Amino acid sequence: MLNFDHLAVNQQGHLTIGGIDTTKLAQEYGTPLYVMDEDKIRSICRMYQNSFKKCYHGNGMPLYASKAFCCKEMCRIVNEEGMGLDVVSGGELYTALQAGFPAERIQMHGNNKTPDELSYAINSGVGHIVIDNMDELKMLDEMAGKLHQAVGVSLRIKPGIDAHTHQFIRTGQIDSKFGFALETGEAMQAVKMAIHAKNLKLLELHCHIGSQIFELQPFVLAAQVMMDFMQQIRKETGVMLPELNLGGGFGIQYIASDNSLPYESYMEKVSEAIGQKCKEYDFTEPKIYIEPGRSIVGEAGITLYTIGAVKQIPNIRTYVSIDGGMTDNPRYALYQSDYTVIVANHADQPAKQIVTVAGKCCESGDLIQKDAPLQMCKAGDLLAVLSTGAYNYSMASNYNRIPRPAVVMVHDGKTRIAVKRETYEDLIHNDL
Ligand code: LLP
Repeated sequence: MLNFDHLAVNQQGHLTIGGIDTTKLAQEYGTPLYVMDEDKIRSICRMYQNSFKKCYHGNGMPLYASKAFCCKEMCRIVNEEGMGLDVVSGGELYTALQAGFPAERIQMHGNNKTPDELSYAINSGVGHIVIDNMDELKMLDEMAGKLHQAVGVSLRIKPGIDAHTHQFIRTGQIDSKFGFALETGEAMQAVKMAIHAKNLKLLELHCHIGSQIFELQPFVLAAQVMMDFMQQIRKETGVMLPELNLGGGFGIQYIASDNSLPYESYMEKVSEAIGQKCKEYDFTEPKIYIEPGRSIVGEAGITLYTIGAVKQIPNIRTYVSIDGGMTDNPRYALYQSDYTVIVANHADQPAKQIVTVAGKCCESGDLIQKDAPLQMCKAGDLLAVLSTGAYNYSMASNYNRIPRPAVVMVHDGKTRIAVKRETYEDLIHNDL
């Protein structure tokens, strides 16, 4: 099992999260069930906040990338922790505002924001709108003019860094749908247009090089490339941009062999690189933002399922079926992502069999894990999948008209529902 301080095995041999017996959670709230350890989430938020104090003398802020796990309760937690928020759609923005999140601490992303989303962001007073492309730059300037608002903007730059991660989640290289390319001169052209745009106030440059990255070097390189670009901007335009946003992407542990680094080490190394560039170019230190998503919520979450059919196909494989699947966790189907699976009511037992954990959707690819070690189990046992706090609930669907599970938060030895379980009635709510 992964060596997480919020997970343990109690005297009955049951897996616990935040000190709460998972079998009790399953009895009380039903399965499938997402469970999030709020104390773990808050401790990581505080670590990032402290790291900003230490590395940047407080001149900066972590923004939680809400795409990892977005609901009103999560926005409230992030707000209480004094952080900012990265949203990527009108829906995420709406959720944040409904939760009382201050608009000025929100940065709005998206590679193809609709005119409605842009005007919603302008009218709500979102702190930064991160512009992705030339069409958007022109549209936003016009819209801001019509609405008589000066809009704070950022430009998303592709720094050309090739981080070693799954190719679907690599976004910093030139062949990417996100942002302005440096190599082609497009980024400099966008900077000049934004500086001269009547209704835009260019505050920030932004980059994001990918997700689930375990190496320090790509982040250091990206920071250096962005600082070099800021120097080039100063040389060509005389403008010193005051802010730099370095995106998210720190890797977490899904399985024991995942070599995740302490998140502070990314902060330290990157801040050193920024400090050196400031000296080299005689810059005042820009205000730094980062946008961690997965590293804040990923390890804090687990999913609980009830095991149903166990199908042994001699000399081939054993399928252990669960009462959820790709509808609540599409990450294996999409990326063949690794996960640690445990029979939560026999968590003290050795993992003696190799099984394939299958979901209940009408689809052969609906698997949660292939060939994974697992404790012996039978129908009625409880299966826990670890590190499901990020990109699980937020990527869930209603395929096969399966209702989405509830999300339960564990805090201080108590539990509460953060998101209610969907009902069949919810499924037909919009049907006419
Ligand atoms: N900022 C930007 C602009 C991003 O595009 C992302 C993630 C983040 C921040 C947060 O990155 P994180 O710290 O969570 O790595 N669905 C995929 C992950 C897609 C990530 C997209 N962008 C998955 O399940 O692995």
